[in-house]
Amino acid sequence: MYDLIIKNGKLVYDSYTIENDIAVKDGKIVQIGKFSDEQASRVVDATGKYVLPGGVEAHMHCMAPFQGALGANTFYEQSISAAFGGVTTFMDFANMSRGQSPFEQVKARRKEMEESAIDYSVHGKFIEANESTLKDIDKLVEYGTPTFKMFMTYKKEGVMAEDETILKVFQKCKEVKGLPMLHCESNPIAENNIRECEEKNDLSWVNFAKCKPVLCEAEAFSRAVWFAKYVDTGIIVVHTTNKEALDVAREAHSKGFPVYVETGPHYLTLFDDLYEREDGYLAICSPPLRTPKQAEELWDGIKDKTISLIGSDDCTFDVDEKSMFLEKDSDGKFIQDFRKVVNGLSGLEVRLPIMLSEGVNKGRISINDVVALTSTNIAKVYGCFPQKGILAVGSDADIVIVDMEKEVTLNKDLLHNNISYCLHEGMQIKGYPQMTISHGNIIVEDAKFYGEKFAGKFVERSIDKNIIKKFDL
Ligand code: URP
Ligand code: ZN
Ligand code: ZN
Repeated sequence: MYDLIIKNGKLVYDSYTIENDIAVKDGKIVQIGKFSDEQASRVVDATGKYVLPGGVEAHMHCMAPFQGALGANTFYEQSISAAFGGVTTFMDFANMSRGQSPFEQVKARRKEMEESAIDYSVHGKFIEANESTLKDIDKLVEYGTPTFKMFMTYKKEGVMAEDETILKVFQKCKEVKGLPMLHCESNPIAENNIRECEEKNDLSWVNFAKCKPVLCEAEAFSRAVWFAKYVDTGIIVVHTTNKEALDVAREAHSKGFPVYVETGPHYLTLFDDLYEREDGYLAICSPPLRTPKQAEELWDGIKDKTISLIGSDDCTFDVDEKSMFLEKDSDGKFIQDFRKVVNGLSGLEVRLPIMLSEGVNKGRISINDVVALTSTNIAKVYGCFPQKGILAVGSDADIVIVDMEKEVTLNKDLLHNNISYCLHEGMQIKGYPQMTISHGNIIVEDAKFYGEKFAGKFVERSIDKNIIKKFDL
């Protein structure tokens, strides 16, 4: 007797779709075939619907003290929002300051994430490379957390990794099968531009984006890729926003070099005109939002597979935190000073809907591509495939049923991210997750949450040696 059968659905893989049933027992997919209703305690009829492997979100920042703010959600709340967005595994970053042990910080983060209703993992962060922190990389790989972020900017905030640190971490990663994740923005370019704005006393939201132009990102992107080529190891570049950076990746890919490029749903659907609004501070994130043309160039990068990962970079702050350091003028309006606004946007819950609607239903990509970008490739690159990222016998029964005909209008009340605004307010979406299943348990059904606090499990990961050797997804 099975615990659950999902019948008559269109099972979606990264390169094909088949109509079949899935049988689940003890949290695992145990058979794919045709079954009768009597064979299971619970039967879900997915006729006309698409059945996807649960989403894997490898890029978010929850309860992360940054620029004085903490975020709007606890990990449990974040896991609810994730589940409504078809995400069944998420990964967050260890909090890190100079002098701390990356390994101890990852362990502390794991503890904080235990209250999650969905599965979770942690990335390390490296700010400095000394004997002790480099030794931690061995421990982190052994612990099942072999991915580490480094910021190429945010020097003033005290979290930037200098070039030498980046090189040393790359070298160690090559040795022990670790995989670095890079936030590519040139600190000197950004800081010089910010200084100029300070001198002109114009720190408007619009100028925030101007201080971090495309070349600020592309220079750092290119430097990271050259370092990786020099060391001869793979890297992930997170939140990429433009063609100039993608062209660097294209050149690397043409030689089979493993550069895994991520972009986020916000860079595909939100644009820099938001900075012209009075509440434009709500759209401040790094790298900044770009133009519709640049977003279309990102879609081109998705179509030609230069971009292989979609990460929301969810960093959800409500108005109070976004504006906590801003002052008001005599009319009660915020005095624009982008230096005083914490960076980051919400996006976890809308990641899959945006890819289904803007990607598949608008004819840009296939539903198989969406599975690759939001689940399979992420599981492969971050080292938890085939436990995650595929509907296969033996994989965890993390499953999302999608209704490609369902139309919704995005708004703050629809989402579960605990904030009083929605940058996608009014956006028409066609294609939405209808049911989310974690380890065989239905955790979202008919827009209601049935998951449990602390039900999520820590996912131990290890990077496949081919992932850091050659680009082959
Ligand atoms: O603005 C952003 N992206 N905030 C989150 C931290 C980061 O850099 O990813
Ligand atoms: Zn970043
Ligand atoms: Zn981030």
